[in-house]
Amino acid sequence: MAYGIFLVLHSIVRWVVVVAGVAVVASCIRAKAKGSSYQPIHRTLGTVFVSGVHLNVVLGLILYVALSPTTQLAFADVGAAMKASTLRFFLVEHPFGMLVGTALVTVGSATVKRTVDDAKKLSRAVTYFGAGLLMILLSIPWPFYPAGRPLFWLPF
Ligand code: HEM
Repeated sequence: MAYGIFLVLHSIVRWVVVVAGVAVVASCIRAKAKGSSYQPIHRTLGTVFVSGVHLNVVLGLILYVALSPTTQLAFADVGAAMKASTLRFFLVEHPFGMLVGTALVTVGSATVKRTVDDAKKLSRAVTYFGAGLLMILLSIPWPFYPAGRPLFWLPF
């Protein structure tokens, strides 16, 4: 039961991350192209994006170490898991890609806050949030991946 609840929350927060991430990167690119400045909406979208990522890392870590039968099965025989694409995805590829994405987004958020110049704030938001979002998008188990999961489902 706890597994189902955490998995559903983890899956829903993914949509907050994807929507806020695309919105903050797209609106910063648009503002840059129009020569306009870094606005409160960019900060708000960035905060929602970073908070969603951090929340999902916490939920993901709890699934990973304690709740997921997939990772428990993988831990039982890591050698065999590395040869099975779905187990390898949740044991290594998914967490590694997400942690790299999280590092980019976290460093980006601190860098943007520290930057005073408006044009540089926009450029740095596009660079760090864009790179972090790309890593996160590539690491989500989309239905067309071998280890894919449905876009919306109730696993209990
Ligand atoms: C922004 C960060 C993350 C996003 C957007 C994300 C997204 C997802 C999605 C969409 C699923 C499939 C959920 C479903 O089946 O409905 C999933 C599963 C999972 N994720 Fe993440 N994830 C993130 C970070 C992490 C991290 C950092 C870890 C581990 C350290 C992790 C561990 C897992 C595990 C163990 C599963 C469940 C596998 C299973 O029980 O079969 N996730 N994640």
